[in-house]
Parts: sequence; structure tokens; C-alpha cells
Amino acid sequence: MNIIIVGTQWGDEGKGKIIDILSQKMDYIVRYQGGSNAGHTVVVDAREFIFHLIPSGILHKGKICCIGNGVVVDPASLVKEIETLEASGISIDGRLKVSSLAHLIMPYHKILDQLRETKRAHKIGTTGRGIGPCYADKINRCGIRMIDLLNPVVFREKLKDNLKEKNEIFKKVYRHSGFSFDKIYKEYLNYSRRLSRYICNTHLLLNRAVKEKKDILFEGAQGTFLDIDFGTYPFVTSSSAASGGACIGSGISPIKIDKVIGVAKAYTTRVGEGPFPAEFPPAFNKFIRDKGNEFGATTGRPRRCGWFDSVMVKEAILLNGISELAIMKLDVLDGLQTLKICTAYKYKGKLFRSFPYDLEVLRNGRPLYKEMSGWRQGLKQPRHYQDLPSNAKKYLAQIEDILKVKISIISVGSSREETIFKP
Ligand code: GDP
Ligand code: IMO
Ligand code: MG
Repeated sequence: MNIIIVGTQWGDEGKGKIIDILSQKMDYIVRYQGGSNAGHTVVVDAREFIFHLIPSGILHKGKICCIGNGVVVDPASLVKEIETLEASGISIDGRLKVSSLAHLIMPYHKILDQLRETKRAHKIGTTGRGIGPCYADKINRCGIRMIDLLNPVVFREKLKDNLKEKNEIFKKVYRHSGFSFDKIYKEYLNYSRRLSRYICNTHLLLNRAVKEKKDILFEGAQGTFLDIDFGTYPFVTSSSAASGGACIGSGISPIKIDKVIGVAKAYTTRVGEGPFPAEFPPAFNKFIRDKGNEFGATTGRPRRCGWFDSVMVKEAILLNGISELAIMKLDVLDGLQTLKICTAYKYKGKLFRSFPYDLEVLRNGRPLYKEMSGWRQGLKQPRHYQDLPSNAKKYLAQIEDILKVKISIISVGSSREETIFKP
């Protein structure tokens, strides 16, 4: 079975937890887009691991974890992640594979990301990890890839070319002193030595695995509404986070994909700027943020919180070909008197039942809600669907009814054990 896991909201849905759980039955786990802007949390025996680049299946012995060609790799961040894992006693040698075609994040990408943000009238709220500028260079055909890192002659030539143009831009447009060739060259040769053992042709490896009927899990980063095409542009990331990105970003044909599972929080969160129709008012926003510990896994920034928005998730189901949903963090809604599900937006007398891409509607549209009664019981212990409070079951059934999709996994806590597989 080849399964894509994709976020259906604005990221941080709990993909890391689902990937970790499903990885047990898989052979390969592949990241296909994004970079170290991602922060995927896995909690095992009260120990928390946050993955930025390394696939969240790495904690399971014997699983091959690939960083696909569609990912943009910051070698500094990757080395740090490898070292943290090794220090925790997790052996990755022979199990971590990095595509030779993946693009490298360079020091100037990170600085440019931050400088551009300061100049924007409408800030995106970028994580500042250099993601946008690196993908821009890839599309501009001046990017530097992992394979170039292995060849000092090519690396030197490409870095020289890039710095020639970029240093002028840094000086003239941003009044920045620019970057030294020698410093970057030396730093990256060190990364080359450190990372060369992991770099290979992952698309060949994965296609061989498909032929051998191995099981591959594709790990989406970010979420559908941060996707460069289908997200709330320009308040998005710079990659194809939707399920289609899995094929482009790994070199596996679409006809080899068996299933797409969507991950959604039982409510909605967003970190960074941009429209958020079902966002809570400030006091309740803070209440849920504290209750759900909604702080960014990468930057620590407070996440904005809101009601479950079925208009968004419905669009995500359509765009990604989702046949099953995992609903996460249901426990955070525990104890609320009333729950709301956003079913449409209204703007200037017009009703929007499907996702409107017009920023004016998204910014000013009034969300219309279906209200439901909450549940008072603690959700800490349920392990089976029938143990859930009846209003929690009604809430889930209502979501299924609106979205016309099956909820197959319900998460009621961050640990592996706090997971219900719905019959
Ligand atoms: P990802 O980026 O989609 O992998 O999600 P993040 O790791 O950024 O954010 C999800 C957060 O919620 C992490 O801190 C998880 O440990 C936590 N989490 C996941 N599932 C649950 C759940 O069902 N209940 C609670 N309370 N926390 C959860
Ligand atoms: P995971 O994989 C939540 C957001 C940033 C910002 C916008 C652009 O953990 O779900 P970028 O650094 O890509 O230029 O930022 O996208 N963002 C995320 N939000 N989860 C993520 O990843 C995110 N990755 C980027 O906050 O608004
Ligand atoms: Mg995250």
C-alpha cells in the first residue's frame, strides 16, 4: 500500500503523530516537499521528538526514511537533527536517504527570506528558514542541489555564479554587506563530508521498492491551505503541500498511489499571517491556545485558533483525493458547553458554501455555524470509539455527514496510545 498523509488545514494538524503510528506497518517513509519550516511532533513514552526534515517514521527500527527531491534541505538543520537523534540513541545509518536532486538551502536564502519579510506591507509570517528564496532559485534555474555538493568543482562554479548576482542585490536593494564565497564554500564542504553517506538517487530506490511491493508512506508537510497553488495565497508556503506534490517530490508515478489520508484538527489553527474566517475572538483564542498548547513546533510562535471549518476541509478532500480522515486533538474540546462547525461564509449578501479564493471574502466574510452541544467528561482515557462521550460521537458524526468522508482515526492525546481506530 502506498499512502499519502496530507494536512487539510494550515499545517500542524498532528501529521507527525499519525505518520509515526502508521509507519509501524510501512517499509519506507518519504518527505516530499517543504523544508525545515515544518515541525512534526512525535511523543513516545513521554519523550517528545520534533522533526523538521527527517521523516517522522525514523523512530521505528528498520524503516527506510527518505528526504525526497521535492524537499529543500538546509544542511545545517539536517546535521543538527541527525546529531540530536544519534544523541538519543537512535541509529539512522543505512536508514536515512537524501535525494541527490533535492535543492540546498544556502545562507543567503535564509537572510533574504527575513529581509524580504521586513519589506512587505502584508507580512506572510514566514518561519525565516529560507524556503521561499530556495524554491524561487529552483524555478529560476540557479539553485544548487545535493548532487552538486558532492562535486566540489560544480559546487564552486554554481556558488560563484550565485554570489556574483546575489551579492549585488543584497548590497543595492537591501543594504546588506553580502556573503563571502570562501566562508560558505568551506562550511558547505564540511556538510558534504558529513552528509555524503546519505545522499543517493531516492527516486530509483523508491521505484524499486514499489516494484518489490513494499509499502511507502508519503509524509506531507504544511497543509492544503499553505499550498502554493491552492492555499490562501500569498499567505502560503512555496511548495506543493497537497497530495499531488507527493509524486513530483518523490519521483513516484500517480498511478502507484493507493490512498490519501487527510489529517485535521478537531478545530482549526494557523501560525503566521493571513485570513482565517472561523478564528475565535481573542479571549477564547487564548483559552484554546493554552488548553491545546498551540505554540509553533518550529518557531514557538503562538498559533491562532478557531472552530472546525468544514468549508476548508471539504475543499481539501476534493483537492487531495482524501478517502479517510484522522481527527486530532479532540481532547482539547473537552469540557466546552457549545461547539461550532463552520459550514459556509456570507459576504455582501452572498453565501459561499465552497471555498472562496477571493481574499476580500476570506478576510471579511462572516462564518455561518452549526452549533452542537459539547461534552463534560474528561477524554483522557478512551481507547475505543464506544468509550467516547455521546456528544463527542455526535460531533464526529456531524463532521462525517457534512464532509461525506469517513473518519478512521481519532486522536485524544499526543501519545501513541491515545489513538482510536474507528471501526
Ligand atoms: P504536525 O506539524 O502536523 O506534525 O503537527 P505539530 O507537531 O506541529 O503539532 C501538533 C501538536 O499536537 C504536537 O505538539 C503534538 O504532540 C500534539 N498532538 C497531536 N495529537 C494530539 C491529540 O490528539 N491531543 C493533544 N492534546 N495533542 C496532540
Ligand atoms: P508543518 O509541516 C504551520 C507557515 C508559516 C507562514 C507560512 C510561510 O509543521 O505543518 P515559510 O517559512 O514556509 O515561508 O512560511 O507558512 N508554515 C507553517 N505553518 N505548520 C507548518 O509546517 C508550516 N510551515 C510553514 O507560519 O505563515
Ligand atoms: Mg508542525
